Amino acid sequence: MKRLAGKTALITGAARGIGLEFARAYIAEGATVALADINAAAVASAAESLGPQAHAIPMDVTRQESIDAGFAEAIGRMGKLDILINNAALFSAAPIVEITRADYERIFSVNVAGTLFCLQAAARHMIARGQGGKIINMASQAGRRGESLVAVYCASKAAVISLTQSAGLNLIAHGINVNAIAPGVVDGEHWDGVDAFFAKYEGKAPGQKKKEVGAAVPYGRMGTAADLTGMAIFLASSEADYIVAQTYNVDGGQWMS
Ligand SMILES: NC(=O)c1ccc[n+]([C@@H]2O[C@H](COP(=O)([O-])OP(=O)(O)OC[C@H]3O[C@@H](n4cnc5c(N)ncnc54)[C@H](O)[C@@H]3O)[C@@H](O)[C@H]2O)c1
Repeated sequence: MKRLAGKTALITGAARGIGLEFARAYIAEGATVALADINAAAVASAAESLGPQAHAIPMDVTRQESIDAGFAEAIGRMGKLDILINNAALFSAAPIVEITRADYERIFSVNVAGTLFCLQAAARHMIARGQGGKIINMASQAGRRGESLVAVYCASKAAVISLTQSAGLNLIAHGINVNAIAPGVVDGEHWDGVDAFFAKYEGKAPGQKKKEVGAAVPYGRMGTAADLTGMAIFLASSEADYIVAQTYNVDGGQWMS
């Protein structure tokens, strides 16, 4: 029996990486998925590659009118929304004295405001429908503690953990479970960008930071997007009904809490 049979999900930032892998895994478990992303061309080809259970939704999570239109289109096409994964995020790194207000606002508008207002759009629909729902926010090990060169991104992911707690407590009265996943280091295009930041600020050769972080994971390697799908399916399923406002580490043993 497929665990998400008949369910519908919207995943932000699903044109590539972890979001795209979640879409693939949800469809394999019987769900219909709206892949939402600011990169309209990439999300269209990503959805096409997944077949008729996938819908491409161009959406910029920093713009309220884009969130409203994107959710309306996704709900119109799928008929309802059972599951939201707040996955879209940006990364940046800089020493404290070089952080700019523009970069802070760019990161927080996607990672924090984007998460909150997509969560709100999903919750409004789920409350009106009266059949509960599941909301999963993508946090990070970076939200568990600060890092010398990653202040803004770490603070944004700490905010995601906090929002998960508040929204989880507020929305469970409506049968809506809000939980989060905190990955560690997950290989892919995102981490290619992270590697480039560290090459710049720590004087490392390209690829060196990736090797170091992979070797430091107790499991013995960097994670893959596929390592996270089990938790994403579980939290979206009825098996997780009694789980409220939690953030789960899926990081090969890097963080214990
Ligand atoms: N890769 C890792 O090591 C890692 C570790 C911990 C947490 N995470 C988190 O997991 C999630 C997915 O990470 P990933 O590695 O797949 O990232 P990624 O950079 O590969 O993908 C992010 C996607 O978000 C989209 N996006 C960016 N801005 C947007 C906006 N304004 N509106 C809509 N979409 C937008 C991008 O176009 C892209 O497709 C993120 O929340 C990230 O912070 C990743």
